[in-house]
Amino acid sequence: MTANALRTTRGQAGSRILGIGVYRPARVVGNEEVCARIDSSDAWIRRRSGIVTRRFAGDEETVITMATEASVKALAHAGVDAAAVSMVLLASMSHLEQAPAAAPQVAHLIGSGAAAATDIGAGCAGFCHALALADSLVRSGSVGHVLVVGSEKMSDIIDPEDRGTAFLFGDGAGAVVVGPAETPGIGPVVWGSDGERHRLIAHDGSWRDTRDSSAPWPVLRMAGPDVFRWATRRVPEVSRQALDAAGIDATDLAAFIPHQANARIVDSAAKALGLAPHTAVARDIVESGNTSAASIPLAMDSLLSQGAAPSGGHALLVGFGAGLVHAAQVVTLP
Ligand code: UT7
Repeated sequence: MTANALRTTRGQAGSRILGIGVYRPARVVGNEEVCARIDSSDAWIRRRSGIVTRRFAGDEETVITMATEASVKALAHAGVDAAAVSMVLLASMSHLEQAPAAAPQVAHLIGSGAAAATDIGAGCAGFCHALALADSLVRSGSVGHVLVVGSEKMSDIIDPEDRGTAFLFGDGAGAVVVGPAETPGIGPVVWGSDGERHRLIAHDGSWRDTRDSSAPWPVLRMAGPDVFRWATRRVPEVSRQALDAAGIDATDLAAFIPHQANARIVDSAAKALGLAPHTAVARDIVESGNTSAASIPLAMDSLLSQGAAPSGGHALLVGFGAGLVHAAQVVTLP
């Protein structure tokens, strides 16, 4: 006997970002302070990365508290009640506990305690991965509203004496609310991985080493120049693919918001894409440093709050980082 087909959910026409919120830690750290621990200079850091300041979270500012603050603001901006959130997706590479995931605690703290909640591990591309999943889940009818959050306390996982990373990373969180929409506001994702090169951005030890010997706390190391070369080649490629997939020309973009890894990567990608003068290019890296999975929503909020990009305009997002992984999509700004 053939079994009956299973019932399934009914799809939505599209999804879109309904609101955004961010959390920037209170403490602003200039290049001079970072240079006290490494052989470097303010001039070198500005020239090679574009970074002038970053923020480091204090003891009370954790991946969970920062995600919660950003999420509460995103819900208020969207005009969506916490009870209407049916899923929380939290992208992070710096939540230090293996279990439980951070997302269920964020869901509880914002008043969405019954929501499905899980963490996404895709390094600096985590926000774009989570956004793509949220879009698919909303369109499939599996969920109603989704909170997509990127939250990082990178200062916990970097070595302040490592010349290759100490000046680069910063802390913070950004969140968006994704919900159903008659007109699609999140374009098809272009994503992929290259795990053969996983050592290019990786911890230099495992927790097992720390348990079994007196090995030091594992920290994030990066083969900067190799990652730089990969990013400057890959970001324009996947950007063009995401524009094609969404049926948008680069000249139609109100904003270009790539992961804020290095101002030189942002500039080289913007140039390769031949962006129009009216396209705002995100340069939040100057003030925030590289905040990994939080960098794209932080940069989006910065453009919107400065009036540099309009609500309703199209923005191209490109995440790339540890894995190696990448993910890009065109969105309509909230
Ligand atoms: O977020 C995930 C993805 N991450 C990225 O996309 C980051 C990609 N990489 C980068 O952004 C860059 O590689 C860095 C900003 C990390 C480093 O910049 P770079 O221009 O690639 O520096 P480099 O490692 O090639 O070093 C160039 C020179 C060397 O000196 P010589 O051999 O030319 O005399 C280094 O010793 O700069 C020296 N150097 C430094 N000098 C002052 C390296 N690090 C420093 C430093 N301060 N912190």
